[in-house]
Order: sequence, then structure tokens, then C-alpha cells
Amino acid sequence: MPTLKTAAALLLLATPALAEVEVKDLWAKKCQGCHAMDGSGDTERGRKYKVDDLTDPGWQARHSDEKIEKAIFEGKGKVMKPFKDRLTPEEIAALVRHVRTFKRP
Ligand code: HEC
Repeated sequence: MPTLKTAAALLLLATPALAEVEVKDLWAKKCQGCHAMDGSGDTERGRKYKVDDLTDPGWQARHSDEKIEKAIFEGKGKVMKPFKDRLTPEEIAALVRHVRTFKRP
């Protein structure tokens, strides 16, 4: 039988994994159409709108968390609409962290 300590440790391990799944779902629903599931922008709409390759380490270095957050809140250019009325600040913060995971070595 698992001790209370083990149960707590398991919960701690499970919680971030759950958040990860939710943010992936969010990305799939709201972002991947233009940015692709892997952030490369390699989709029909991504190519049409010339979205940046978010996996590029150079791109990652040029964009601060604040800049990424602002783009999601307020939108970018004519194509990417602001998400401030459609996502919670928590969801936007999670998406910023998700964008960071696209960086290739
Ligand atoms: C209708 C297409 C479209 C959708 C949907 C979309 N984007 Fe964008 N996004 C763009 C375009 C176009 C740009 C501007 C070109 C660029 O910087 O790549 C952009 C730029 C960005 C940037 C770079 C901002 C900067 O300062 O350079 C980030 C980060 C971003 N999008 C994240 C997201 C996230 C997160 C979502 C979902 C919540 C999303 N996008 C949904 C089209 C889209």
C-alpha cells in the first residue's frame, strides 16, 4: 500500500504533466493552424502568412518572454488576432512556456 508520502510525491509528479497536456490541447486548437504543432510554421496557412520558425534558436534568443506574451495578448500584424479576450492570463503564460519548448538544440 503506498504511504501518504508516496501519494503526495505522485501527485506532485502528475500535476505538471496534466498542465502540459492542457497547453498542448490549447496550442492544437488555437495556434497550430498557423504555427504548426511543432512551432515550425510549416502549415499551409503558416507558409501563406510567412510565420517565423519558432524552433529556431536565433528566433528564441531574439524574443523575450514579455515579447511573446505581448504578441499573444495583443496579436501580431494583421493576421494574428489578439487573444486577450479569448484566453485567461494563466493560459497565455502557459503558452509562453510552451513556445519555449519548441527551441531545437
Ligand atoms: C491566423 C494565423 C495565426 C494564428 C491562429 C496564431 N498566430 Fe501567432 N503569428 C501569426 C503571424 C502571421 C505572426 C507574425 C509573423 C511572425 O512573427 O511569425 C505571428 C506571430 C507570433 C509570435 C511571434 C511574435 C513576435 O513578436 O514576433 C508568437 C509568439 C505567436 N505568434 C504565438 C501564437 C500563439 C501562442 C497562438 C495561439 C494562441 C498563435 N500565435 C496563433 C499567425 C497566427
